[in-house]
Amino acid sequence: MYLLLLTAGLAYLLGSVSFGLLMAKLFRLGDLRSIGSGNIGATNVLRTGHKPAALLTLLGDAGKGAAAVLLARWLVGEDAAGIAALFAMAGHLWSCFGGFRGGKGVATFLGTLIALNWPMGLLACATWLAVALALRMSSLSALVAAVAAPIYALVFQHWHVAAVVAVMSVLIFIKHAENIRRILDGTEPRIGAKK
Ligand code: G3P
Repeated sequence: MYLLLLTAGLAYLLGSVSFGLLMAKLFRLGDLRSIGSGNIGATNVLRTGHKPAALLTLLGDAGKGAAAVLLARWLVGEDAAGIAALFAMAGHLWSCFGGFRGGKGVATFLGTLIALNWPMGLLACATWLAVALALRMSSLSALVAAVAAPIYALVFQHWHVAAVVAVMSVLIFIKHAENIRRILDGTEPRIGAKK
């Protein structure tokens, strides 16, 4: 039991590390909270015009989600993997290093999915990519991938993994409330546009 608590705590700490904020500091990109959407994710880092920083943010935020799941699986076993995914997401959304504020969790979500089950994760990434290529809207791509992911989880995994994925999808929808309003208003910026 204590190992399970330890892995949940480690997953939360890993999730709390914001690669967007780290990259903004490293590459002197300014205050992400006052740029574009104000989010700390890769999409908003891209709005600074610094593509390598955006890519590193994407890989770092996805990698920490995957690392949390793999660590839990190694330390405790498969039963802890889903819990670690949830806690890594919680860390990204409500970071203990960022005054319990955070990002929208999309890269971390995709990273945890790949580590939970790689065909499921890759399919979710492909869904994100397909919508992004077609409509060039990062938030909409994330929302479609968040709807699709629990269905993929039901196909590739047990229902309890699908339940964990569904909870993460609901969190993504909650964190995208402003994006959803802008999508409905027709004012959501396209990928690559600088606000
Ligand atoms: O990954 C976050 C993305 O879905 C939306 O980001 O900055 O456009 O609100 P942003």
